[in-house]
Amino acid sequence: MLRVVRSGFYVLGPETERFEAEFGAFCGAGAGAVGVASGTDALEIALRAVGVSAGAEVITVPNAGGYTTGAVLAIGATPVLVDVDARSLLIDPERCAAAVTSRTAAIVVTHLYGSPASVRSLREWLPPGLPVVEDAAQAHGAVADGQRVGVLGDAAAFSFYPTKNLGAIGDGGAVVSRDRAILDRARMLRQYGWSERYVASVGGGRNSRLDEIQAAVLRVKLPHLTTWNDARRAIARRFLDAVSDRVEFVTRADASNVVHLCVARHPERDALRDRLSALGVGTAVHFPVPDHAQTAFAGRVRVPEPTPCADRACAEVLSLPCFPELTEAELESAISTVREAW
Ligand SMILES: Cc1ncc(COP(=O)(O)O)c(C=O)c1O
Repeated sequence: MLRVVRSGFYVLGPETERFEAEFGAFCGAGAGAVGVASGTDALEIALRAVGVSAGAEVITVPNAGGYTTGAVLAIGATPVLVDVDARSLLIDPERCAAAVTSRTAAIVVTHLYGSPASVRSLREWLPPGLPVVEDAAQAHGAVADGQRVGVLGDAAAFSFYPTKNLGAIGDGGAVVSRDRAILDRARMLRQYGWSERYVASVGGGRNSRLDEIQAAVLRVKLPHLTTWNDARRAIARRFLDAVSDRVEFVTRADASNVVHLCVARHPERDALRDRLSALGVGTAVHFPVPDHAQTAFAGRVRVPEPTPCADRACAEVLSLPCFPELTEAELESAISTVREAW
């Protein structure tokens, strides 16, 4: 951070350039990455970069926090919400394929809670050539189809919000792709649509840049990411071993999953949450309201079929404390409290 302050170079300088190369390489994307201001911006810029424009439709799921829905609406396109698989809570490929129309311009696959979705299996259901964008905001380092997320689809969006598996000390995000043309478009879109300074060449551009201090911090943290992901997985395993007899878990702590969140589910979620809170254990709900029930999105999304699995998940999921800094004593106490409350 001092190096950046002393350099006098604060936006789109050498730290950002190096981080983009290092994070791209981490994901297996030789073409690199494009640093942007947030994960939500990364989604919007990735969607524009793969060719989504106003009037098109983008298929996604309703239980992933509304970030994709917001990004699609910002482009002037229509989010089309389809149900998820009842167990994994990831997009259901069959329902996704059934929702494709002549207006469909892309699919957004969310690797929810750190659990990677197979884009290869999804593509088997889709018309060839339909772009797939990964929402990898919760899944830095997760593996599907034998590769890290970020290179499974045509482009991917990452968030570096401080609590993410790889977090900055403020907001940040990145677009990752193996396709240089997509990355070139993303690079123009993050900076006013410029192809060179003061020459605006593509529409839909804006100011969405990763700053040098965030990039410098991310460069220090990136080499620790796999160790921290292991720590998250180990915490989830402890919860699974200790309380699986009492409560159903959405999270599976296998090696491909980076356990951004350790998520259980229960039909009386809210009462359990209150009990845990009274006993001193903080939990969270990711996410309580399906997108089609959000006031801000009313009348602006298309839901071709009911989404009972996603709706039920929003009423039942509960995220337990799970982050690398959790101490052994805190974990022990959380586990025994969860056993007591359930
Ligand atoms: C699944 C998912 N997608 C997108 C985002 C958006 O990222 P940001 O907060 O950096 O805009 C988040 C987190 O905030 C997220 O959890």
